[in-house]
Amino acid sequence: MSEKIKIRPSEKKDFDEIWRIFKSVIASGNTYVNRAETTKDEARAKWENKNAKTFVAEIDEKIVGVSLLKPNYVDRGSHVANASYIVDENLRGAGIGKALALHSISTAKELGYKAMQFNFVVSTNVAAVNLWKSVGFKIIGTIPKGFNHKDSGYVDAFVMFREL
Ligand SMILES: CC(C)(COP(=O)(O)OP(=O)(O)OC[C@H]1O[C@@H](n2cnc3c(N)ncnc32)[C@H](O)[C@@H]1OP(=O)(O)O)[C@@H](O)C(=O)NCCC(=O)NCCS
Repeated sequence: MSEKIKIRPSEKKDFDEIWRIFKSVIASGNTYVNRAETTKDEARAKWENKNAKTFVAEIDEKIVGVSLLKPNYVDRGSHVANASYIVDENLRGAGIGKALALHSISTAKELGYKAMQFNFVVSTNVAAVNLWKSVGFKIIGTIPKGFNHKDSGYVDAFVMFREL
């Protein structure tokens, strides 16, 4: 499967597919902070943010995942990258998330970032926590009951970090 995954910068025409993937994640209410009622325009502001680079993963020219890379903070915090990822819910566990993660780590290095930080990894999101650990991230902090999980109520969120 991994040899079929192609990752490229997103284009305007990709947004309907990005929206389809993002909408299903926010509807599930167990990984992203955004409410299920988030509008398409609000989502566009996130995924087409001018300070960010958005990438899509394709298999046979079908978009199967999306990632976003941006500075974690402005100015004196901008040497640390931040990233977001979503894989199509029907295609998880097939290496697409790992391919996107490795791609953004190498892209962040090329762009001169010194480190990468995820500010809000939901502690119950085992797939994400394991994936980030497998590509070198460590949990450096815990936000107690930081996330209001749709099914489980308030659960911890992790800050995860790695140097580049
Ligand atoms: C997190 C996410 C991006 C992972 O993408 P994916 O394509 O399913 O992950 P991969 O198939 O590349 O798996 C890579 C590694 O992640 C871990 N992993 C993935 N799914 C897992 C699961 N269900 N349970 C435990 N570990 C899992 C494993 O370490 C796996 O490596 P292995 O296959 O060698 O064991 C995907 O589940 C997703 O989109 N989730 C919803 C949105 C989200 O949580 N985004 C991240 C927010 S921090």
